This record gives sequence, structure tokens and C-alpha cells, in this order.
Amino acid sequence: MEALNDLSIFLAYNANVDVIKHIGEDFEENYTGEQVREAKNRNPEKLSDRVDLLAAIFNCMRKGIGDEILIKTEEFKGWLEEEITPDEKRMGGQAGIMSNLLSMLGCRTVVFTPVLSKEQSRFFEKNENLLYPVVEDDELELKHPEECWKEIETKKNWIFEFFDDQELFGVAAESNSRFIASSEHELDNLEIGELENRLDDLVSSQDCMILSGYHNLKRKYGDGSTWREHLESAKDFIRSSKEINPDLKIQIEFAASHQKEIREATLEEVVPLADVISFDLNELDFIMDDLGIDEDVPDPESPGRLNEVLKSIIEELNIEAASIHTHHYFMSVSRDYVDSEPIKKGFEFARNVVWTGASGADINLENTKEAEKVNPSERGFELRNRLGEFLGSEEMKERGIHRGEFDTVVVPNKIFENPRLSVGLGDLISASSFALENALR
Ligand code: GLC
Repeated sequence: MEALNDLSIFLAYNANVDVIKHIGEDFEENYTGEQVREAKNRNPEKLSDRVDLLAAIFNCMRKGIGDEILIKTEEFKGWLEEEITPDEKRMGGQAGIMSNLLSMLGCRTVVFTPVLSKEQSRFFEKNENLLYPVVEDDELELKHPEECWKEIETKKNWIFEFFDDQELFGVAAESNSRFIASSEHELDNLEIGELENRLDDLVSSQDCMILSGYHNLKRKYGDGSTWREHLESAKDFIRSSKEINPDLKIQIEFAASHQKEIREATLEEVVPLADVISFDLNELDFIMDDLGIDEDVPDPESPGRLNEVLKSIIEELNIEAASIHTHHYFMSVSRDYVDSEPIKKGFEFARNVVWTGASGADINLENTKEAEKVNPSERGFELRNRLGEFLGSEEMKERGIHRGEFDTVVVPNKIFENPRLSVGLGDLISASSFALENALR
């Protein structure tokens, strides 16, 4: 893991404060019987009131998956501020969560978000190797985020966590998961501002990048600009970065969002400029839909089918690798990307990191040692075997690696039953595996 000390990684764009609420009796008190009945029949695309919120939570519980829907009105945001007593507040947003993690693991981490308020900056780990880029006197300076905040509103999302089998007004949850009510922010626009003039300095020293937060684009901004213009800037950022540093590997974190047009444009226009796309099963459902792959999302119990779908995503988007985390195993499919051995090591490290995170312990290298003693999922090994049969590959059965026109790596997960929180766990897997595979490539 010492290899991580030599890795320089840049992350952008989304950081926010997650206001976390465990669903329980005090949450039920916000609703009348009439509102509950109404919520059982709604399927909101945006959240306008508390009934929409309850409907969205019901949908997540029934399906046993996470989801994220935008808050539509200031009035409803005000209601959340007033009525929801948080159990805790945490760093949210992939760039925020992942940069904290990677700095804890020893990487030289540079993070940028256009929504760095004072409150937000305090959620960044106080590590010397966690830095934020600013331009001063025409020079690029790297400082701790706490020295770089702006006088702006903090972006907050409300996270409603529930446990497997938990009931809310008679609706039972199919698994541990969460619903996110997310807010829009006027500055959440993927623009890097003055950094544009110092890109050479910023990018030439990086080994890799993780980019996320495209789903937070607003359709229209107060200054009259649109999501389309900002997406174009974000595409230019990737193109320029690759020109400056052709060896740079870029991973895009895909996020399930209900703004189909923006999501589709991100997938079809941004992802092909990068190298790797990382997602979970819920996000895969959206990706297949957007790419017009006209099949049901593969059951992880059919790893052969999942493998085929990941291959078609790589071909369709003309990228080097696709990476997915499921409950029992992680799978990477790649073509002309990094060798399979570092990918395997990346996943083996990631399962220790996520187990540590799920246990509630702080994540640092010392604490991940506990997870080394935990056995990986038996079911994960069985499914790896099943994939080996499907591919006719002894090496897949024995070691989880298969090389061919496409390389496949499968690593069984280490499952921590009943984590206290589910939000952000996928980010831990995605960031730590990508970082280590790049450190070792
Ligand atoms: C999304 C949400 C954010 C949450 C994160 C966890 O970025 O907007 O609130 O922390 O997902 O993965």
C-alpha cells in the first residue's frame, strides 16, 4: 500500500454536506394518515412537498435500492431545514468523500469543487496531503480547502437511511439503503474558473483523475447560462487535460439521476473522453437504458451476462474499462487498460477499505488491517466460479482473472452485515480500487 504515497490524484466536482436522518418514529410524526395514503400512489420526478419525499422513500424501500431526486422548491427545502432533526452531518458528494478517503490512504490528493463554502471546507480531513487549487498572482497555489472557501451558501443534501426489513407505515425495506433528497446550487456548474489558465501546472503533475458531479447540473442558471454550455466546458477540461498529460487515466463516476437529457449527454459525450466508468447495479440500469441496450439489467447471480453487458458498454462508449460493485463481488472488464494484476490488487484492497468503512471505524491503513482477517463472501467465490465455467477459463475459477480480447477481473467482496450507514460506501470501493490499480500500473 506504500505505493499510494507516490500517487498524485485530482478529483472534481461535487462536494456537499450530507444531512443524515435514520428513518424512525420521529420521522413518522411528520405525516397524517391521508398523506401516507397519497404517498403510496405517487412516483415523483422532483420533490415539491413532504408527500413526494415519503413516496420516494417508499419506492427505495420496496426496491431495496438507493435513489436520488432533486428538491424542486425553496419552500420544501425550508421544510427539510426546519423539520428534519439530523442524526449527523457528514461530507457528501463523490469528490468530497473520495478526496477525504484518498488523503487518509496517503495519496497526494488535489480536490476542486465550485461550491466550497466555509461550512463545507470544514468537512475536509485536516491532512497535509489534501489540497485545493487556487490562482494567486497568476500562479497556481495548493492549499488546504479551509484556506480557500468563498462566502457562498452551503450545498446540503438530505439522506434518509433505512435498514433491511425495516417498516415505514407498513412498507418494508428489501435491503439496507438510502434515499437522497438533493438540492440544486447556483454555483454547481462544473466551471473551474481561473484554473483554466493554469491547467498545465495543475494537470502535468497528476497520475490520474476521478471526475463526478455531472448529475448536479441545473437546466438553467441565474445568469442565463444552461447545462449545455457548462457540459461543453467540462468536456474541454478533459480534452485539455489529456493533451497536457496523455498518460493520465481518468475515471468517471456515474450517478443515477432523473434528469434524463443531462444524464444521457454525460454518458454519451463526457465518458468517451475518459478511460474508465464506474457504477453500481442501479446506475447500470440507467446506463443500459440510455445506451438503448434493450434488456433487463443483469442479475449479479448471472455473472456471464453481466460480463457481456460490460463488454458492450466498453464498445459502445469506446473506453478502456468498466467497473461495477455488487453485493458479493466486484467486476472489471477492460481492453488495453491496466494489466489485470494491479486491477485485482486494487479490488482486494477496496474490499478491506469498504469493510472498514461499513464497520464505522475511521478509514486509514492501520484500521484496514482488521479487515484483512475477514473472509470474503463464499457466494462471491461461487459466482466467480460460475463465470469461469461460462468463459471456459480455469484462471477465472482459480484466481479471478481472465485475459482475452477483453480482460475480466472478479474479486469477492467482504460483507459487513448491517452497516450503520450505506451512503457513500460505493464511493469507497470505486476510489480505492482505482487509486491502487493506478499506483501499481
Ligand atoms: C451523491 C449525492 C451525495 C452523496 C453521494 C454518495 O453524490 O449527491 O449527497 O453523498 O452521492 O455517494
